Amino acid sequence: MKHELQVSILKELMQQLDCGKNIDAGVQYRTSTDVYTSPEIAQQEWRLFFQNHPQLIGLSGDLPEPGSYFTVDDFGTPVLATRDQQGKFHAFLNACRHRGVRVANEQRGQAGKFSCPFHAWTYSNRGDLVAIPQEDQFGAIDKSCHGLVALPCEEHNGLLWVHPQPNGELNVEKLLGPLAEEMSLASYGDMVYCGESVIDKNLNWKLANDTFGETYHFQKLHRNTLGQIFYGDNLAYEEIGRNHRFVFASKAIDLLRDMPEEEWKLTDAANLLYYLFPNIQFNVGTDSVALIKIYPHPQDPGRSITRVNHYFSRSAIEALEAAQVGDDKITADNVYDGEVRENALFGLDAIMEVFDSTIEQEDYAMGETTQQAAANGLLEYMIFGRNEPALHHYHNTFREALNQPPLQRFG
Ligand code: FES
Ligand SMILES: [Fe+2]
Repeated sequence: MKHELQVSILKELMQQLDCGKNIDAGVQYRTSTDVYTSPEIAQQEWRLFFQNHPQLIGLSGDLPEPGSYFTVDDFGTPVLATRDQQGKFHAFLNACRHRGVRVANEQRGQAGKFSCPFHAWTYSNRGDLVAIPQEDQFGAIDKSCHGLVALPCEEHNGLLWVHPQPNGELNVEKLLGPLAEEMSLASYGDMVYCGESVIDKNLNWKLANDTFGETYHFQKLHRNTLGQIFYGDNLAYEEIGRNHRFVFASKAIDLLRDMPEEEWKLTDAANLLYYLFPNIQFNVGTDSVALIKIYPHPQDPGRSITRVNHYFSRSAIEALEAAQVGDDKITADNVYDGEVRENALFGLDAIMEVFDSTIEQEDYAMGETTQQAAANGLLEYMIFGRNEPALHHYHNTFREALNQPPLQRFG
């Protein structure tokens, strides 16, 4: 992000904090609760947003070297993502051309070739069919047109995109719009993959996504956790097509007041969160990225699966490793403790655990009870306040994509 924009966002946040004002959309909306429970809506979303829409599946660091691969099973199409010997990113249907068996079964690893476990047809990591055992007995096959089915894919400024349909359109510049340039100024491609956690909970995928859409709850729900680090009730927000940029102040923003503007850096003083339609929360720190991918359960509107992938810069990893002294493991239970925070001796595991457990045990725990209330059908609607513009945007974007009328005004 350009420095000029970083400074203007930080000034906006400081002004909100100084005046005790949050962002104000000037309007409240309501949504009927069936958007979280309706099997028909869930089916439409699955088909349009997941089976027929480009998906951000990872960062370049998920394929760190030639021969790296990983598999994805989150949106109906089983995907095998590879990096070939020339360093090129590929994505394939993870299905053998003989009788459709999965050719790669591990979540991630290193392999130049993939041999199908059924009859050992073998494919290169460029997708070429390179060997068929007992070919004389099996009969003639034109290997050149029976490689793995290629899916449209693109490695774009460190982000790995795939379209789940072999004939689908993948145009990342178009998907990101003006965010493409803004995000290209960061070095996401240099980030090292450090781990993943999976959160499988009884809440609709949009409820999971909603928890990333306001800072109104920080000093209430997260009072003793994230509320120790972030102020809450402030937000610099911009809708960017179907996506958005969502920035809120950490308490470190006060340190900037004595520093020259040229030295201000957004991620040192605020949390930067990009939302990428339909299901991605992209959380950017000074030396880290958390890629949060939220998926519906394909059959149950009341369940979702969130994958949180953590990436850190090489220098941050080295610094964190060097800073970790003794055997004291810093965990989510004590990381918000003042002494630990000041010393900032967070190990990588501790940082990831704190982030994930806050989502799971605080935010999603709220969402699970909302899901129960929505499921019993007695609560007719829910209300999105003037200080929750991201919720307006998410829901209106989904509605527009499903050809539904916009949210109804409340009040
Ligand atoms: S199904 Fe893969 S080799 Fe037969
Ligand atoms: Fe939260």
